[in-house]
Amino acid sequence: MTRPERSLNLVPAGADDYRRRARRRLPRQLFDYVDGGALTEATMRANRRDLDAIEFRQRVLRDVTDRSSATTILGQAVAQPVILAPVGFAGMMARRAEVQAATAAHQQGVPFVESTLSICSLDEVSAASTAPWFQLYVMRDRGFAAELIDRAADARCPTLVLTVDLAVVGRRYRDVRNGVDALLGPWGRARRAMDFALHPRWALDVARRGRPLVFGNLEGAVPDARMPTDFQRWIASQFDPSVTWDDLEWIRGRWPGSLVVKGVLEPDDAVRALERGADAVVVSNHGGRQLDGAPSTIRSLPAIVDAAGGRGEIYLDGGIRSGQDVAKALALGARACLIGRPWVYAVAASGSSGVAALLAGLRDELLVTMALTGCRSLEDLGPETLR
Ligand SMILES: Cc1cc2nc3c(=O)[nH]c(=O)nc-3n(C[C@H](O)[C@H](O)[C@H](O)COP(=O)(O)O)c2cc1C
Repeated sequence: MTRPERSLNLVPAGADDYRRRARRRLPRQLFDYVDGGALTEATMRANRRDLDAIEFRQRVLRDVTDRSSATTILGQAVAQPVILAPVGFAGMMARRAEVQAATAAHQQGVPFVESTLSICSLDEVSAASTAPWFQLYVMRDRGFAAELIDRAADARCPTLVLTVDLAVVGRRYRDVRNGVDALLGPWGRARRAMDFALHPRWALDVARRGRPLVFGNLEGAVPDARMPTDFQRWIASQFDPSVTWDDLEWIRGRWPGSLVVKGVLEPDDAVRALERGADAVVVSNHGGRQLDGAPSTIRSLPAIVDAAGGRGEIYLDGGIRSGQDVAKALALGARACLIGRPWVYAVAASGSSGVAALLAGLRDELLVTMALTGCRSLEDLGPETLR
């Protein structure tokens, strides 16, 4: 068997291989920021554990010559039911990472969601690929939120994703240990400088040429920022814990396109979002980065699908690492899956071509899984596909 840690010269086969490469490429504090979750990371682990626990029913002797992973998401034709999730700070992991990932997503026929907290601005990403989706965090300054919504409309984004599971930022022990939120003393600063210096490819490619300290969508909002911590402090002070369902109605009234509410784990919250004008909800616990102790998303999914009763589209994220995971989520009623960390590992490790290869691999795995479970179309995936 190939020892994974010795296989860096081999072709990456999937999300785990990109993760290992990203770990080598990135300064520890950045890798930990992407890789980690809240507190004990129990919810983050549960996302994976509960997906792993699901078994397929192997079906034989059915003609599965013609299979298709193509579908529509909110009326948009896609090559497979996968969406690149919004990831803040991604442009710190690779040079102009959001543009690279959006280009790959466009090439592979899936949507890319631009985070409010991206390094590349929405305009830069839209210029490089067609119509990304835009993810909105509602800041204390509602005028600024309104401006972001209008910018997304001007950039012809078809879909706005409102993230609702970040009333406050979850506490993440890995970030605490790395001193991300702290004002570092001289030793801490020296350790951080050493961490960056020990990763020269990242330092030359991203730090020197990637302008990783300017948040494109917030430009001008944090004029004195010099370090990521300056932005993090500003962002923490700007997140608004007083956002309510009324704000969802306000956004619905202002936004002309499709609206997705991301970060729902309870059936009644999902129903409320759909009743107040959301076209879709994402069953998500923010990749286990917010409420540690919340259930896994795959376990939360069936009750939400039931409660929604076909009123809107239901997506899922958290721990999706292969086309098999996508098949499991679809079999339990999701229309599509978002992937977060995997695309960031891929872009950090291999740039745009890494993200494209990751997506092509996911699609392949989905098609193979369909064949071996006797499914020809995504509609064939259902509870009877699973044991
Ligand atoms: C480093 C990092 C940054 C994130 N930033 C955002 C963000 O800006 N907006 C948002 O809605 N979700 C954000 N998320 C959550 C993702 O959109 C997604 O819900 C989560 O990553 C899915 O889990 P997975 O990483 O296991 O695929 C972030 C996730 C990570 C790992």
